[in-house]
Amino acid sequence: MTSPSRSGVFQQAADPRVERFTESIRYDHRLYAHDIAGSTAHAQMLAKIGVLSDDECRQIVIGLADIGRDIAAGKFSFRPELEDIHMHIEQALIDRLGDIGRKLHTARSRNDQVATDLRLWSRDAIDALSGLLRQVQRAWLERCQTDADVILPAYTHLRPAQPVLAAHYWLAYCEKFERDRQRLADCRQRVNVCSLGGAALAGTSLPIDRHDVARRLGFSGVSDNSLDISSDRDFVLELAFVLAMIAEHLSTWAEEWILWSGSEYGFLELPQAFCTGSSIMPQKVNPDVLELIRGKTARVIGNLQTLLVLLKGLPLAYNRDLQEDKEPLFDSVDTVSACLELAAPLIQQTRLRHDRITAQLQHGYLDATTLMEYMITRGIPQRTAHHLVGRLVARAMERRIPLHELPLVDFQQEDASLDAGVYQVLGVQNAVRAFRSHGSTGPDQVAQQTATWQRRLKEDA
Ligand code: ARG
Repeated sequence: MTSPSRSGVFQQAADPRVERFTESIRYDHRLYAHDIAGSTAHAQMLAKIGVLSDDECRQIVIGLADIGRDIAAGKFSFRPELEDIHMHIEQALIDRLGDIGRKLHTARSRNDQVATDLRLWSRDAIDALSGLLRQVQRAWLERCQTDADVILPAYTHLRPAQPVLAAHYWLAYCEKFERDRQRLADCRQRVNVCSLGGAALAGTSLPIDRHDVARRLGFSGVSDNSLDISSDRDFVLELAFVLAMIAEHLSTWAEEWILWSGSEYGFLELPQAFCTGSSIMPQKVNPDVLELIRGKTARVIGNLQTLLVLLKGLPLAYNRDLQEDKEPLFDSVDTVSACLELAAPLIQQTRLRHDRITAQLQHGYLDATTLMEYMITRGIPQRTAHHLVGRLVARAMERRIPLHELPLVDFQQEDASLDAGVYQVLGVQNAVRAFRSHGSTGPDQVAQQTATWQRRLKEDA
């Protein structure tokens, strides 16, 4: 069968190599449900304006639903010569309804149709991703209860810096993923605009009601320039960026936990169900899931790059290059969704190794900065206090003891005004308790942040 788009002017059949080269049905069959939703709304609008009779519309709507069921049940045959999902569904409708089916494509082109399908698909993807991000946030929040009071060393330059509550760490990821959710919600506003009715590129001379179609499809409005409609893929690019951002956040977490679960840090015990073995070294339990979450970030970034380059310099309006937008977008959505689906149980089922953490907290003089701030409260200028604490750390290092084991006389040799009050901020427990600024790791602050997150996640349940 030749493609309906080749009828009329063409006197030559398509070269089979061209058919294979230009088809997109291999991957755009995923749009079938959205294509059917778009066509259904379009037919209903055509009936409303009198282009279709009510009976014709009814037959089309039923026919489309039947086709949808066949596709879902795997009973539909896809043929490369029909190029894409739009032509497959339209041809199947014509096969069933004859001339009535031939009326569906009135006042419509595949250019506005594919953009609409992709917007509907992206909207669903955004909503699903947003839900997956929430699941990951819930997993972090659960850990805040499980690990209440646990202190972890926090790092700058991957060197021990200051002590923080474990919950402070977990909530840091909640914040990152919240910004990602906001970015998705923001992107959704630009996704949720109806392209149907832009037709090929200039609109149509037929008296269509674009707002009616938009309402039926749950779009918040219609796009206002038909040339823009058929060329606009900003929303695809934006979504690809947000996905890359989520992947970056996941990758940061994965890297951190790969380190922390290794024998050098030993802070975490990953669930074995999320680890894999080695084919040669019998003793190995490897963090492959985390490594792949980190590794898959590469393709998500690659997809963003692909789309940026694809759209660069395309003249208005529709160009077939735009067909290349789908695979990178689908791949990014699939990849990030799979990573998020695994992240939540991995976060929930990982156990902290308290012995290793406690031992590690003794190293690195994590309380030094708090001691310096204590000195500032005693009237010592910051630069002087920084210098004095540095000297005290050097003394302690020489004797291989923590700061809180230095006798008072050492402190007083550095500044005679110091008294036993210094011990109130030494040791990681005291140091953590001393924090008070907004957003800090101080227990009151973290309790407040946890409560805020509980409220937020509950409201959204
Ligand atoms: N499969 C095409 C795509 O994804 C649909 C639009 C085809 N339009 C055209 N004028 N050839 O872009």
